[in-house]
Amino acid sequence: MKILLIEDTETHAQLARHALMLFDPSITVHHVDNAEDALEAVARDEYDVVLADYYLPGMSGLHFLITIRERGMDVPVVMITSQGQIKVAVECLRSGANDYVAKDEGYVDLLPQALMAVHARHRAEKENEELQRQIHRKKEEVESTNKKLMQYQREIIHAEKMSALVTLVRGICHELNNPLTGILGYAQLMQEVCKAGEGLEDLKEIEVCAQRCREIIAKLARFCRQEKIATSMVDVNEVLEDSVSFVQYYANRHKVKITTDLQPGLPKTLASVHDLRQAFLAVCLNGIQAMAKGGTLVVKSSLRGELLYLSVTDSGVGIAEENLEQIFNPFFTTREVGEGSGMGLAITYGIIRDHGGEILVDSKVGEGSTFHLVFPVRRAAAVETSPAPAEAPLAG
Ligand SMILES: Nc1ncnc2c1ncn2[C@@H]1O[C@H](COP(=O)(O)OP(=O)(O)O)[C@@H](O)[C@H]1O
Ligand SMILES: [Mg+2]
Repeated sequence: MKILLIEDTETHAQLARHALMLFDPSITVHHVDNAEDALEAVARDEYDVVLADYYLPGMSGLHFLITIRERGMDVPVVMITSQGQIKVAVECLRSGANDYVAKDEGYVDLLPQALMAVHARHRAEKENEELQRQIHRKKEEVESTNKKLMQYQREIIHAEKMSALVTLVRGICHELNNPLTGILGYAQLMQEVCKAGEGLEDLKEIEVCAQRCREIIAKLARFCRQEKIATSMVDVNEVLEDSVSFVQYYANRHKVKITTDLQPGLPKTLASVHDLRQAFLAVCLNGIQAMAKGGTLVVKSSLRGELLYLSVTDSGVGIAEENLEQIFNPFFTTREVGEGSGMGLAITYGIIRDHGGEILVDSKVGEGSTFHLVFPVRRAAAVETSPAPAEAPLAG
């Protein structure tokens, strides 16, 4: 154990040193006779305990104590106070002393025990603090792992739900297409038959309604990738810029500023220009619509490894947690009746998945949302056929 002894009376210092060495010969005592030297000593060396006389010429023992505590040093300090000075002792304890010993007759015999006790207590406290820190760290690790697990679980459930939805919607499209073709065909035929006759207007109305159903089914089919897509080598930055110029007027009307941060020189990728534009437009329009009081829409592109990262960030209303699960569902919309079809993100989902990618959403209610569209670069040489999977085409 290494002790710093601050004591201006040489005989006291010698007695103390003697008592300590007698108690345990392995104890080393470094003696200084003033607080200024002691400050230098504690800054230079590490001590297990400091034994400081309260009364010292120049800087007092108490001042020394306050100074080292202010400097953030937590070396244990035992103060030696004069006999009967309880007030002084209390003041020392309040100022950060770990214990005190009154300088009455034979006090040096008490020093070793007092120092040992303080040293042991201090060490126990340190160990306890370290254990608390470790517990805290472990708790944080467990919490973060839990969070990740829950996120994975949510992603799996979402992927399963989307897959079930795609199957369901595909079945519905398939089943509706045949009768719908019949309705349309017969409505047209009947119009030929009754030319200027009675019921012609009704037949026309039937044809219009059936056409509308067809369009809805076509959108649903896009969601569940029923069609082969026409592809070419595409510069996604060009498509992004096109999309931005398309929505610029709409953005101006909504007091939305659009800024772009597009990484130059992105490799061209085999994709459908038409579909990608449709996807970006849907996401940009949603972003603008989310900022009823104006704001900024930030459109970014970058390449990370062989993945293209395109993102659209708005500073709008954000998406409520319970809606995040649903925004890609066909027909899900929070807009007023007649203002939204709820098909924008469903179609975008289908398009990005057709390009081998996925859409990730970060959103905070009241702060805004970012839609990340991530998909791999498809270099022409590597891909010869259309990326749309060969699935049973729609009947009818
Ligand atoms: N950037 C966004 N900020 C806030 N909500 C959004 C955003 N994008 C999509 N949404 C929510 O997702 C829903 C579905 O979007 P979408 O599929 O494009 O259909 P629609 O725009 O016709 O409602 C919207 O009604 C809206 O509630
Ligand atoms: Mg939309």
